[in-house]
This record gives sequence, C-alpha cells and structure tokens, in this order.
Amino acid sequence: MHFKDIQRVPGDPILGLIEAYAVDPNPNKFDLGVGVYKDAMGLTPILRSVKLAEQRLVDSQTTKTYIGGHGQARFGTLISELVLGKDSPLIAHKRVGASQTPGGTGALRLCADFIANCLPGRGIWLSDPTWPIHESIFGAAGLKVSHYPYVGSDNRLNVEAMLATLNQVPHGDVVLLHACCHNPTGFDLSHDDWRKVLQVVRSRNLLPLIDFAYQGFGDGLEQDAWSVRLFAEALPELLITSSCSKNFGLYRERTGALLVCTDTTEKLMDVRSQLSATARNLWSNPPDHGAAIVAEILGDPELRHMWAAEVEEMRGRIAQLRAGLVEALTPLGLGKRFAHIGVQRGMFSYTGLNDDQVARLRHEHSVYLVSAGRANIAGIDAARLDSLAKAIAAVC
Ligand code: LMR
Repeated sequence: MHFKDIQRVPGDPILGLIEAYAVDPNPNKFDLGVGVYKDAMGLTPILRSVKLAEQRLVDSQTTKTYIGGHGQARFGTLISELVLGKDSPLIAHKRVGASQTPGGTGALRLCADFIANCLPGRGIWLSDPTWPIHESIFGAAGLKVSHYPYVGSDNRLNVEAMLATLNQVPHGDVVLLHACCHNPTGFDLSHDDWRKVLQVVRSRNLLPLIDFAYQGFGDGLEQDAWSVRLFAEALPELLITSSCSKNFGLYRERTGALLVCTDTTEKLMDVRSQLSATARNLWSNPPDHGAAIVAEILGDPELRHMWAAEVEEMRGRIAQLRAGLVEALTPLGLGKRFAHIGVQRGMFSYTGLNDDQVARLRHEHSVYLVSAGRANIAGIDAARLDSLAKAIAAVC
C-alpha cells in the first residue's frame, strides 16, 4: 500500500476550532477562536458595499478567462493606493508593484518562495509570538526561521528586547513586522517604537516584510497604514503583504496582494518577472472574484464611501467590545488584571489566560479560544458579556 506510512497530524490550531465549536451542543457557547468579525446578531454578514459591487460584476462581467500571474492591473493600482496612500511618491515613480494573491496567506507564501528562490541564504525573523501560520509558511519554503522577542510571559510588549535582538540579526536577513493589530497579541508598536525599528533595519541593512492583514481594524484605514508608509518612504526596498479578508469581509474569496517596493522601475520589472514565475508554480493565475469586488468598490467613490463607513462600524464595535469586556470583568475583581484588553488593538487579545485555563474555558464553559490565550474579541456577543466574564472568572 502506498499510503501505509502516512501518519495523521494534529488539526490546524485555529481552523480546527471552527469544527469543534460547530459540534458543541451548548446553546450558550462562545466562539472566540478564528479571526472572523461578528455583528450584534452573531453573524458575519456580507458587507453592503460588497453585495452591490458583486451585483454589478454579475451584470457586467463578460468573461472568466485567465487574468495573468499578477492579476488585474486595476486591482493592483487601487490596493497600492489603499496601502501606501494615493499621493505616494512610490506610485508616482513606478517603484511599487502589486501581485494579486489568494488572500494575505497566499501573499505570504509567494513572498516566502520568492525569498527562497531569489535571495538564497537569507533567514527570516518573526515576532515571538506570531500567527502560527507564519512559522509554517516560511518553514515550508525552506527558510531558516528565527525569532525576536515581542510579548513576554508577563504578557507585555517588550520593545527593548525586540530592538536588542534585531540589532544582532545578520545583515540582509528578512524581518517580518505586523503593521497593526498584531496577531495574536493585539499589542502594537507606538510611532516612536516604529522609528526605532526603522533605525535598526537601516543600520543592519535588513529587508522588512510588513504583514498588513487588518487595515482599518486598529485606529482607522489611514492611521493603520502609518508604519507601512513610514518604511516605504524611508527605504529603497520593501515587501508588504495585504489582506482583504477582514476589512472587506471577503474571507472565503481569498483576496490579497503582495506589494514589492524597489529603488527603480527597472528593478521592479526584474522582481515582478520572478514573482509571476513563482506564482505560476503555486496557483498559476490568482482567483479573481474577490479582487474584482475590491476594485469595483475602491474605484467607485460612492461604494468606497459606503465601504469605509462599514469598516469604521466594525472597528468601532470591536473597540466597544474591548471596553465592555473589561467593564464586565471589573465587578468580578478582574478589571485591573485584564485592563490590557482595552489597550490592545484589532481583533485579537492575548488575554494572559494560560493553556490550562483555555482548556477549562472550552470544556467547562464552551468558550473557544486559541491556545496561549488568544481571544477573538470581534467574535464576542455583546449581549452576553457578563456571562463570558463569569466564565473567565471561574477559571482564574
Ligand atoms: C486568524 O488568525 O484567526 C485569522 O488570520 C484566520 C486564519 O487564517 O488563521
């Protein structure tokens, strides 16, 4: 038998929770696992702007033919403007190119293979902790994966330790930074911290890869891009992965982009030729439906306005849930202990709950968190904050 030596591996640490939650018969269960936004009804609705754009596409699209390795040029331009700003000198000087990818995860994988193929010998440095799939994607591409400290066992951001380690990174290595809404911790760098990181990146001649998966979920669409734009304008070369899964709610459409910034247009063409050859071996042509929706929205002032308001609504709701959870924990004597939930940004919170407490929450209270205590705050039902707080108190 050909398959007889194949062993079963554990389920995905995040996606596996979707199935476990679905089969839990407890009507009072909480899904704080996978990073998906839920509204006041507990639903993950299709955004109104997306529905309208989709309808327009159904009515006007005339072909489903291949779109080429980099995807639609219009999507590429609009996503570059969203990330870097409409007036970015990089766009004006044709120093940035976007490749359409299957989600931000696809962009990361394309980037990983690009580094492995075109920058041999370069290691990649990830924050400790980071999104677990960062670890596996770069490992799967054969890169040497190392870590810089970010949030320690005291559940605090440790910028000094981060900078000290980055100062030791071999020249030329790649350093992955989360633009905003750090996954899994929710702890973001301040503007001052970003400037310090930039200084080290420059002095060690590191190549930054900025993962920008949550634009609009932290402090706003423009505000969240601050760090990316700082780096893009200060450095000759930069890699950025952008995701439309969360801010457009296009999770299953797999929509994202890898943006490459180079010092010259000529070099951009060299790099893009490599990216399209690499993508050919991965997925040939990127999926198009989600990207076509995004282009329709960003390219139409009315739809764009509607979409920006919808993103703001999601962002505001997450901020309220953060404050609401701390408030609900306060009468239980836990307000101070969990005050960081109100300070963190984006969908996720490193709550500080340990694996044992996470397991008890799941088995005794049907509250589903990712291991190491990551909670998807955007999945909380606001009407049941008190019962969630009581469940947390019961395991503390
Ligand atoms: C998450 O971290 O929950 C999201 O980014 C979804 C995913 O693909 O893991």
